[in-house]
Amino acid sequence: METVLSGIRSTGNLHLGNYFGAIQNFLKMQHQHICYFFIADYHSLTTHPTPSDLYHNVQQVLVEYLASGIDPEVSTLYIQSDVPEVAELYLLLNMNAYLGELERCTSFKEKLRKQPDNINAGLLTYPVLMAADILLHRATKVPVGKDQEQHLEMARTFANRFNRLYQTNYFPEPVAYHFDGNLIKIPGLDGSTKMGKSESPGNAVFLADEPAVIRKKVMAAMTDSGPQQPDQPMSQGVANLFSLLEVLSSEDTHSHFLAKYKEGSIRYGDMKKQLAEDIIAFTSPLRQRILEIGQNKEYLSRVARLGAEKARESASNTIKEVRKIIGFKPF
Ligand code: TRP
Repeated sequence: METVLSGIRSTGNLHLGNYFGAIQNFLKMQHQHICYFFIADYHSLTTHPTPSDLYHNVQQVLVEYLASGIDPEVSTLYIQSDVPEVAELYLLLNMNAYLGELERCTSFKEKLRKQPDNINAGLLTYPVLMAADILLHRATKVPVGKDQEQHLEMARTFANRFNRLYQTNYFPEPVAYHFDGNLIKIPGLDGSTKMGKSESPGNAVFLADEPAVIRKKVMAAMTDSGPQQPDQPMSQGVANLFSLLEVLSSEDTHSHFLAKYKEGSIRYGDMKKQLAEDIIAFTSPLRQRILEIGQNKEYLSRVARLGAEKARESASNTIKEVRKIIGFKPF
């Protein structure tokens, strides 16, 4: 059994790609490992959200993870700012994080390039806070995408540096957790091979999207001027629609449209209409749960308190040990 920790961006509303990818893996993982899932709201302050946006973003993410089936009794689902111990570990780790290495971090250089007039110290030390998140529970496995690999590498550097400096092996090295191979990949509606929220706005179908929004997005999905010659490959946009049909529609529907495509008699509009209805049928119960849980403030507050309590138990233990290792002693 490993300790797995996953940090969730507080603006990360779930789309179908997340649902069939990370979420399905989390649902399995939570029964196999000790799992911590937390909403990274301290991190989000690097972009200065308004108090109201901050609150609503965190709530929406919490609600969507619960609606998707993360069990707050089985795993530890918490909000980062409910566990102030992380701020102390962040402070302590900052003492051994060097300006040069922080400046060399790709995500920081990217910010520097894109927003040179708005570079705060929080952005510079973002990887230190992320390391603190991980080391706070001495997690060994961290599910991350490619864009976070460097941050994870830095967490290893900080862990090892702490161990070396204090001649201890207190912090284990956190490594990337790779989901098992048979992941269902969900392509985007805009012809890109991956559904993602940073792509064009019509690319992703979110679990909380209303039926009318889903219809509009699907009807606007990228296709081509008609079936290609039999020896030509399908265009990416159309191939994406067929992939979506394969996951979300019945086998009959999928083979029906595929046959039409091969015959050269397909009408993409018909296929999209059907796909939209099948997506709606799939997301409707989830959306319903999202709405219900979102209205149940008492349940949300209970979940948040339980998560904070479990997370703080592990966090305060780590902080106690770390203080001892560093040499803080009560007078
Ligand atoms: N930086 C991560 C992202 O942008 C979120 C995150 C914060 C995180 N702390 C973490 C991920 C700790 C894994 C572990 O997606």
